[in-house]
Amino acid sequence: MGKNLLELKSLDVSEILSILDQAQAFHDGQDFRGLEGRIAANLFFEPSTRTQYSFHVAEEKLGLRVVSFNPAGSSLQKNESFYDTVKTFDSFGVDLLVIRHVENEYYNQLIGRVNAKILNGGDGTGNHPTQSLLDLLTIRQQFGGFEGLKAAIIGDVSHSRVAHTNFEVMGRLGMEVCTSGPEEYMEQGMNFKPFEQAVRESDIVMLLRVQHERHSQKMGLTVEEYHSRYGMDKKKLDWMKKDAILMHPAPFNRGVEIADDAVECGRSRIFKQMNNGVFVRMAAIKRALCD
Ligand code: CP
Repeated sequence: MGKNLLELKSLDVSEILSILDQAQAFHDGQDFRGLEGRIAANLFFEPSTRTQYSFHVAEEKLGLRVVSFNPAGSSLQKNESFYDTVKTFDSFGVDLLVIRHVENEYYNQLIGRVNAKILNGGDGTGNHPTQSLLDLLTIRQQFGGFEGLKAAIIGDVSHSRVAHTNFEVMGRLGMEVCTSGPEEYMEQGMNFKPFEQAVRESDIVMLLRVQHERHSQKMGLTVEEYHSRYGMDKKKLDWMKKDAILMHPAPFNRGVEIADDAVECGRSRIFKQMNNGVFVRMAAIKRALCD
């Protein structure tokens, strides 16, 4: 049994809440036995620090053995394909494949063709389910629930799998979500609001990195212009509602979308998000291999 975790939009709300409940239990110290000796392969075809290594920590905490993958030292360099690389690890008999890849919905080519359970560590600009879950856990810890909360997702929305995943799931959980940022990075149908209004009205201000590596054209603003118009700094922090929090999936670019002052200010939950990532990923692994 067990279940892949590929995208949140195919999970109903009760299942999402159940993963968050399990993650919270792990956060609160719940012990879990039963996965000792199972093997996970973390296949990151795109760079990652938080997702890759917090999965590794989560796997270690649950007693799994972990195979890490280095694309630069693999037969990808001899033109082996993504599909054949994944099939190779599956042939080794690993129990779990954690995969990040540049192609949206890369997992469609794997479903029904691998035996191991797949956890999506991010596909292109499409989905980042465990990031969204850790964002939701952080929000629920802060506010006790989701219904009626207002969130602003600000920055390079169109290239962000975090924005796409959160916009969809937060709406289903009863939150009111808007987006803001440079026009070149906005998408139709994602409730655009001017930056200052978005910051002033929201309970959650979620900043995004400008993802230059996904751009076909150079950004139309200089770094200084971006920071001045859309970067969170000391002055703009004062625009936020009294109990509002600041989030960012990271990696963040200090001096671009966020100033030094804001990274570790009292409102910031950025490092709490990273901490919660371990517990959410433990819950995803348990669901994949046990439930
Ligand atoms: N938030 C996130 O996905 O970070 P990494 O790219 O470092 O995994």
